Amino acid sequence: MTASNATAFEKLQFTGNRLLMRGMKLALGILPLREPKLLVGISAQNQLADIIAERSLQKVLIVTTAGIIRRGQADELIRALEMRGITPVIYDGISPDPTFAIVNEGLDLLKRENCDGVVAFGGGSAMDAAKVMAVAATNRRAPEKLVGILKGLRKPLPFYAVPTTAGTGSETTVASVISQDESHAKSFVVDHRSLALAAALDPRLMEGLGPDLTAATGMDALTHAIEAWISTISTPETDRYALEAIQLILEHLPRACENGSDLEAREAMAIASYKAGRAFTQSLLGYVHAISHQLGAYYGIPHGLGNAIVLPKVLAFSQGAARSRLAKLAIETGLGEPAAGETALAQMFVDHIIALNRRLGIPATVAELQDEDIPGIAKGALHEALLNYPVPRHMGRRDCERLIKSLAGEPEVEEYPEVELIQAA
Ligand SMILES: [Fe+2]
Repeated sequence: MTASNATAFEKLQFTGNRLLMRGMKLALGILPLREPKLLVGISAQNQLADIIAERSLQKVLIVTTAGIIRRGQADELIRALEMRGITPVIYDGISPDPTFAIVNEGLDLLKRENCDGVVAFGGGSAMDAAKVMAVAATNRRAPEKLVGILKGLRKPLPFYAVPTTAGTGSETTVASVISQDESHAKSFVVDHRSLALAAALDPRLMEGLGPDLTAATGMDALTHAIEAWISTISTPETDRYALEAIQLILEHLPRACENGSDLEAREAMAIASYKAGRAFTQSLLGYVHAISHQLGAYYGIPHGLGNAIVLPKVLAFSQGAARSRLAKLAIETGLGEPAAGETALAQMFVDHIIALNRRLGIPATVAELQDEDIPGIAKGALHEALLNYPVPRHMGRRDCERLIKSLAGEPEVEEYPEVELIQAA
């Protein structure tokens, strides 16, 4: 582990981070983390209704968006539940970056209707908000009081997930991100018991996603897998999930973006997103997420898009410390042969990510970035990373500000080398 341009105080903080992450690895190893029952394919929603019926639930709250209801996307699940004697109650007030006010609104409906289960039907926002509703319903605590780790004493209501995007992996993670009502600062609610009992991945639900959203959410999943892969607390199990996710995404994300109706590619992306979620739930994330969260807070840059733009920069920064890990990715994804040597292989992988971004139409820069915001963005990102992420190479303030500065400019200013895309094995 190396750190350049770091002050003595920052080096002390890095040591603290390494100790904290060692403790985190121990804690995560001890926690019994079950896996949701995974249902994949066009019959997944019916299978999910069977599983909910087996639990003898009477009334479930479906947490979703008004758009999903308007487009009739949830009709199949609603019918399947009704046919099995389960009453669906619809809460369709979810919007991007859900606030505690939204969680409270859904929770009020859940209580009024005496629901005994919760089904999230949507992207990460619906799943995150629904998880917190399920935890708050059984614990006499306001959702705002659940911020932190394991703040609810009682087991949450049975929770199920039907993702309609392939990216967040929230159907298999134990953390929810909820925004404060006024400041819109992000708060984390972490409870391993809020993990979905079952997740239904139906590729037809993702058919209507446009190429931009498909690309951004897919790059979010790729970032989860790569940050989990280069994490210093990765395990053989998380490595397996991360590698499988990376292989699936490199092969199928361009396909899903170029032809939204390619159900094989959609299904592969849904599985990849799930696997990446499994990987980062235990191996955690890194600087890409830390910086991207700040870009979201400052400029409203969508999470996946921010990750995609920042990912090559952080990989370039981390390349020295993560060289063998990145080289292995190049070999495992068919980009190069071991004879090329680790340094060249690691570079091949980073170049491949840059080429993938270009192919997906993702800019290399953040046009909104203002010079005067850079110190604040760096401060926020470093704070998040120091407390939460096991990174292979630490960043001091000067390193971080320089990296963020390199994101400035109009998209066409930066010239990246043309790299031929190679299909992953
Ligand atoms: Fe993410």
